[in-house]
Amino acid sequence: MPRAFIVGGTGPIGRATTRRLLAAGWQVDITGRNPAHLPADIAAAGGKFVVAERDDPDQLLAAFGDGADLLVDCICYTANHATRLLPLVRDAGSTVMISSKAVYVDSDGNHSNSDTAPHFDGPISETQPTIAPGDADYTTREGYGANKVAAEQVLLDSGRPVTVLRPSKIHGAGAARPREWVYVKRVLDRRPAVFLAHRGAGVDHPSAAANIAALIEVVAATPGQRILNSADPDAPSALEISRTIARQLDHVWDEVLLDDGADETLGRHPWDAPHPIVLDMTLASDLGYRPVGDYATTVADEVEWLVSAACGGDGAESLPGLDDAFFGPLLDYTAENSYLATHAN
Ligand SMILES: NC(=O)c1ccc[n+]([C@@H]2O[C@H](COP(=O)([O-])OP(=O)(O)OC[C@H]3O[C@@H](n4cnc5c(N)ncnc54)[C@H](OP(=O)(O)O)[C@@H]3O)[C@@H](O)[C@H]2O)c1
Repeated sequence: MPRAFIVGGTGPIGRATTRRLLAAGWQVDITGRNPAHLPADIAAAGGKFVVAERDDPDQLLAAFGDGADLLVDCICYTANHATRLLPLVRDAGSTVMISSKAVYVDSDGNHSNSDTAPHFDGPISETQPTIAPGDADYTTREGYGANKVAAEQVLLDSGRPVTVLRPSKIHGAGAARPREWVYVKRVLDRRPAVFLAHRGAGVDHPSAAANIAALIEVVAATPGQRILNSADPDAPSALEISRTIARQLDHVWDEVLLDDGADETLGRHPWDAPHPIVLDMTLASDLGYRPVGDYATTVADEVEWLVSAACGGDGAESLPGLDDAFFGPLLDYTAENSYLATHAN
């Protein structure tokens, strides 16, 4: 039985990959700090949780044991993280490091986390220039991409079959920041209207955890040293995303499509890119990757999980409220109510 070892495996990527590999007959060991984060169905299907702090090399190595056919690192953010992974990489048949499309820069050097939004010429291929490697705080907007590039380089320089995956905006059950919550919560709160800045035209390519998992399975079967984009087969606009979620939850609301220059406190959402950010998936397809489904099909998993969590199910304790620093400004019901009151017929 082939063995997979997933570092930081209780998030969306780890969950989707574990479910897929278990169904294909793999033994899967997942690391994390809190066993309660492992969904019950994964444990029941044979997925094994091993406590291992990623910054403790001995703990990580002990959990890894004698090697694995597939090593996946979901929480590799810095060159130091990558260096600590190297002893495991040496005994892995194929390694996958989860990087990010945030490494790509446009011709002016702007990237997803710049103050000035990037403007790419078209779908971004893996040969697009990246931010220079760096080691500033990786939890900052400037540090995140630079540290990812540095981590990628450490692993690619190992000479081992390491595949770097660069997803875009990830969605899936168990997400630490489930962006679709911005619409799911509105439905649960029975909001009469959805507000969308820039008429909801923003496109920032989504990446389903289930589709990333499908690509990881292909990489397991074809070890090699490479970089691959990892995104959904379609790149819906924010308006299409809001409609998909309302449709899945059987909710009807008015769409308030705000033009450029409208009140900036209204209609904010996570996909509000002024220029489309779309990843080119040709290389992954050429390798044999076939997506599980489009955005509307695959996002159902996260939507169901969010609704269940809102009813006290798995993840209930970490659902963001209206006071959350990220979601609060995206769910400004007070400003919306006052707009609706002044624009009522
Ligand atoms: N979110 C996005 O839109 C996006 C976009 C592009 C790329 N990415 C990349 O995707 C990856 C995240 O994937 P994900 O969302 O599936 O994972 P995740 O939810 O961020 O993390 C997975 C698990 O790792 C465990 N973990 C965190 N810190 C740990 C530590 N110090 N030691 C041991 N375990 C730890 C956590 O479980 P415990 O709390 O139990 O330890 C967590 O459930 C990152 O590499 C990120 O850069 C994300």
